[in-house]
Amino acid sequence: MQNYSEDLLILSPLLFLLNCGFHICFSSSKKSVILFKMEKLEKRKSSMVVNVIGMGYIGLPTALMMASHGVNVIGTDYNKDLVHGLQTGGKVFEEHGLSDLFAEAVEKGIQFSDRYQKADIYIVSVPTPYLKKSRKIDPKYVVSACKSVLEICGDGAILVVESTISPGTIDHCVRPLVGERNIHLAHAPERIIPGNMLHELINNSRTIGADDPETAETVKSLYSSFCKGEIVITDIRTAEMSKVVENTFRDINIAFANELTKICHEAGMDVYEVIRIANRHPRVNILNPGPGVGGHCISVDPWFLVGDFPNMTPLIHSARNVNDSMPEYVYKRISEIMEEKGIRDFSRVGLYGLTYKEDVDDTRESPTLQLIDVLRHKTTDHFPVVYDPFIKKDMVQNQVHSLTDFLEKTDFVVIMVGHSEIKNDPESLKGKIILDTRNMISLDGVYKL
Ligand SMILES: NC(=O)c1ccc[n+]([C@@H]2O[C@H](COP(=O)([O-])OP(=O)(O)OC[C@H]3O[C@@H](n4cnc5c(N)ncnc54)[C@H](O)[C@@H]3O)[C@@H](O)[C@H]2O)c1
Repeated sequence: MQNYSEDLLILSPLLFLLNCGFHICFSSSKKSVILFKMEKLEKRKSSMVVNVIGMGYIGLPTALMMASHGVNVIGTDYNKDLVHGLQTGGKVFEEHGLSDLFAEAVEKGIQFSDRYQKADIYIVSVPTPYLKKSRKIDPKYVVSACKSVLEICGDGAILVVESTISPGTIDHCVRPLVGERNIHLAHAPERIIPGNMLHELINNSRTIGADDPETAETVKSLYSSFCKGEIVITDIRTAEMSKVVENTFRDINIAFANELTKICHEAGMDVYEVIRIANRHPRVNILNPGPGVGGHCISVDPWFLVGDFPNMTPLIHSARNVNDSMPEYVYKRISEIMEEKGIRDFSRVGLYGLTYKEDVDDTRESPTLQLIDVLRHKTTDHFPVVYDPFIKKDMVQNQVHSLTDFLEKTDFVVIMVGHSEIKNDPESLKGKIILDTRNMISLDGVYKL
C-alpha cells in the first residue's frame, strides 16, 4: 500500500477548485511541478489495491472494468459458491460483452475471494432493499459489509459505498461505525442499465460524494481509469439524494405513461398513437407504458423517499402505486380478451418473459412474477404456460424451456418482456391471439395494453 497524502495535500485542493470551475494561474515552474506530481499520482494509482465487496450485477462488472484497466482488484463476496464460480471462470449472469471483459480482467490479474482483503480503497456494492412496512431503506447489507471492511482495513483507507442509499444513510448508519478512526468515506452511486452495462460503465457521467477534496480526487482518479464520462464531485448527502432522485424521476414518468394507457383504453383510444403525436411537441417526452416496473432500482429507490418523507411525497407514492398496479391491469386485459375470444381457462394461455426487462436474466421485482401472484389468487383452474429464454432453472409452475415447446402449448400469448428472440422473429407468433404489453409486434389483430 502507498501513502498518497503528500501529493494529494498539494494536488487535491487545486483539482477541487478546477472541478468547481475556478480558473487558476500558475507560473511555468509551478506548472511543471504540478504536472510532475500528477504524473507521480497516476503511477502510484496503478499500485493501489482495491477490494470490491459484492460480486453481483453492479460489483462484478465494476471490478472487472477496473482490473482490465490496470487497477489491482480483488473481488469479494460472502457467497462462497459464487466466488468459487468466479475463481473457476464460470459465468455469473448474462450481459453483453461480460465474458470477454472477464477474460481480460483475469489476464490482468483480478482475484476473487470470500474474504475481505487489506486494501487502499473498498467499494461496497451490496443490495439495498426497502422495508415493506416503513418503506425506508433496509441498510443491513451495507452496514454488515462496512463493519467487515472496518475490521480489516488500515488507517487512511477509503470506504466507498456504491450501493444506492437513501439520503443520510452514510451519516446515520456508516459514520457511527467509523467513529474516530482515520477512515475516509465516499459515495459513488452507479447508474448503468442492465443489457448495456459495459458501454454505460465507460460512457456515463457519474457522481462522487466525499467529505474532503483529497478523498474525492482519489476516488475520482480510480473511476477515471475506465470512465470517459464527466465525473461530478459533491458532498455525500447530495450524491445519495441525486441518485435516488434519478430513479424516482423515471418511476414518476413511467407511471404517467401507464396511467395514460388506462385512460386511453377506457376511452377506446390508441395510447401509442396519442403518445407519438404528443411527443412531437418540442418539450414533451412521454415514456413507454408497460406491464409494470421491476428490477432492483426504479421499483425500489422511490420508496426510500416515501419512507423518509411520508407527508411530503404524495406524487412519488402515487406513482409507485400506479406502476405496482400494472400487473393487475394486465390480468384485467387478459380476462377481457379471453371473454371476447370465448377462452374459458388458462390451460392454453402463455406468458412470454419472466425477467424484469429485455435481454437480461434478472427477475427481481419482475412484473411477470407479480402477475403470476395475481393469477394465483384469482384462478382456481389451469395455470398459464410460462417461458423465458434467459431463465434456465425452474422458477414457476408450468414453466417450459424452449420457444417451440411454449408455442406448441399455447393459443393465446401474452408478451411480458421484449426479448430479442421474439422481437426478431414475430412471425413465429402468427396465428396466435397476442396481447403485446411492450408494443413491439406489428402483426394484424394484436391486442395492446
Ligand atoms: N442492478 C442494477 O441494475 C443496479 C443499477 C444501479 C445501481 N444498483 C445498486 O447497486 C447495489 C447492488 O445491486 P446489485 O444489483 O449488484 O445486487 P446483487 O444482489 O446482484 O449483488 C449483491 C452481491 O453482494 C453480495 N453481498 C451481500 N452482502 C454482502 C456482504 N456483507 N459481504 C460480501 N458480499 C455481500 C451478495 O452475495 C451478492 O452477490 C444496490 O444498491 C442497487 O440498488 C443496481
